[in-house]
Amino acid sequence: MNAKQIAGQQAASYVEDGMRIGLGTGSTAYWAIHAIADRVKQGLKIEAIPTSKGTEKLALELGIPLTDFSRVQNLDLTIDGADEVDAKLQLIKGGGGALFREKLVAAASDQLIIVVDETKEVDVLGAFHLPVEIAVFAWETTVRRISGIGCTPRLRQKAGQAYVTDNGNYILDCPFGSIMDPAGLSHQLDAIIGVVEHGLFVNMADRVVIGTSGGEARVREKGF
Ligand code: A5P
Repeated sequence: MNAKQIAGQQAASYVEDGMRIGLGTGSTAYWAIHAIADRVKQGLKIEAIPTSKGTEKLALELGIPLTDFSRVQNLDLTIDGADEVDAKLQLIKGGGGALFREKLVAAASDQLIIVVDETKEVDVLGAFHLPVEIAVFAWETTVRRISGIGCTPRLRQKAGQAYVTDNGNYILDCPFGSIMDPAGLSHQLDAIIGVVEHGLFVNMADRVVIGTSGGEARVREKGF
């Protein structure tokens, strides 16, 4: 088993009968979704809300019952990946472009469990360029505003075209360097018109499950 699979499998063990859960996006959440699907086949009763079209497709293929926010107000638990995790369990997310739905689902969850391999643990966030989802209309003005707070954003591309999210928006990858004040930067980005959402998840994660190359899972919890 690789480190991502170990983390995903361990995190799936936190899901209990009757829960409503959020399903994350990415190559580590993928393993958690598979492990949850195995438990559903064995009789676990849950309903899930996916954080991307890709995850929705995977969940349907694996037979996980889905629901949506017209039918549920909040979720018991969400399991999702991350691109960086610091000592206070603050995160950078959005490498896969799903950060907006991921943040909406996480914000509606009583608990957020993050699954990563040990390469994602950092002392200070920011080596990974911060993904910021922006409106397509007047996107150039949003780039200029973000440039004004300390980085030169790059418009994410896919196959030679601007990458478009599940929500019809663009992503800017923003090299802020070491982010010494994630909450402060989060507030600055929140105040910029044109920014739909950004990949800083401050004080949202409750638990991080880290798969190691040695074949074990370590768990870090908020406040420890
Ligand atoms: C998706 O937009 C992201 O937030 C992912 O959860 C994150 O990029 C981690 O992905 P991997 O588990 O594939 O590294």
